[in-house]
Formats: sequence, C-alpha cells, structure tokens
Amino acid sequence: MTSDNITWHAGKVTRQDRAELLGAPGATLWFTGLSGSGKSTLATAVERELIRQGRAAYRLDGDNLRTGLNGDLGFSREAREENCRRVAEVACLFADAGLVSVVAIISPYAESRRMARRLHEDAGLPFVEVYMAASAADCAERDPKGLYAKANTGGIEGFTGIDDPYEVPESPELKIEPDVSVEAGIKLVLAALDRSATGH
Ligand code: ADX
Repeated sequence: MTSDNITWHAGKVTRQDRAELLGAPGATLWFTGLSGSGKSTLATAVERELIRQGRAAYRLDGDNLRTGLNGDLGFSREAREENCRRVAEVACLFADAGLVSVVAIISPYAESRRMARRLHEDAGLPFVEVYMAASAADCAERDPKGLYAKANTGGIEGFTGIDDPYEVPESPELKIEPDVSVEAGIKLVLAALDRSATGH
C-alpha cells in the first residue's frame, strides 16, 4: 500500500551500521494465540531476558497498542486486519532499526500473519512466529481478564475463540503447549530466535 506521488528518500546509515551500534541485528518475534493463551506473559518475560542479555528489544502488545496507535480500531475482521497490518509495519521498522520486536497480538487470520511474514522477508529481516497453543477451553478456564465469562454471558460480541474465528497457524517456527513454564518458554523462544539469525 503506497500513497500517490511519493519518492523514497534513502538514508546514509546501513543496517550493518545499526547492528554494530547495538551489538546484534534486529528481528521480529510474533506471538499469536487466543486471548489468555499466555502471549503477553511470555512476551514480557522474553523482552526482559533479551534486555538482561544486552540485546535491544521492544514489546508491541495488542492491548497496549489499542490505547494509542490502534485505539481507533474495533474487533471486526477489517479492524483486526488493519490492527495486524499496522503492528507488522511497526515491528518491521523496529527490526530494521536493530531491535528485537516482541509482538503479542491475537492476529487471528492466517492471511494477515502471512502478510506480516512477507513484509519481513521482503526486507530481509528474520520473522519468528510463535503459536501459543492453549485452546479456547484452557483460556476460558484461566480467564485472567474475566473476558471469557463476560463473552459467554453476552457481554462481548465477536470474542475470539467463542463467536469469532481463530485460524490456527499451519507452520509456525515454534508452538508452545499450554503446560510449558515461562522459564522453559523463554529458552525455546530464544533458541528459535538464534536459529532464525543463522537461517536454520
Ligand atoms: S486482534 O484480534 O486484533 O489481533 P489484539 O491482540 O489487538 O486482537 O487485542 C486483543 C485483546 O483485546 C484481548 O486480549 C482482549 O483483552 C481484548 N478484547 C476486547 N474485545 C475482544 C474481542 N472481541 N475479541 C478478542 N479480544 C478482545
């Protein structure tokens, strides 16, 4: 998507310059899964561990971004697609800047996630899709924000996993089962990030 009458203005700093400044190249970790599946919890822990290791990282959380950049969006299919598009663009810019973008959004549509991946591939940046595999029943049982209870009693229409779709990723780089601890999850995610940097 490009506006009319636009000319790209190249900078004088290369991606290599940025990687040297920050000590490592950028990438995007993309956590997808139902509300309450543990995306934000694991993303938060991974972000902290990356920073602890001296790696520049920044978390892009769906709920948080919907208080600002994406605060104008609801939960229709079109709105969720636009949410995903904006987050993918921001993640890609941050990764280009040399950070590890740690995205945590439901991103229920496979095509939107493919678009996010393509954007990164076209820019030559690693994209690691992490599928939080907790089922709707698991998430409803945990219900950390009380939203499943609310949706089940008619208080929210079109709630993902109840009366709105979630398309399960077919080939994510990593699938995290619901019984995996946060500590174990961090290790799995960082190993997947390492693999993405070496192309294996
Ligand atoms: S996405 O579907 O567009 O990717 P996103 O991750 O940004 O969603 O936001 C999901 C969060 O919004 C949930 O974790 C929950 O707190 C809240 N929420 C409010 N309404 C809904 C809804 N109808 N479906 C899913 N999540 C909702």
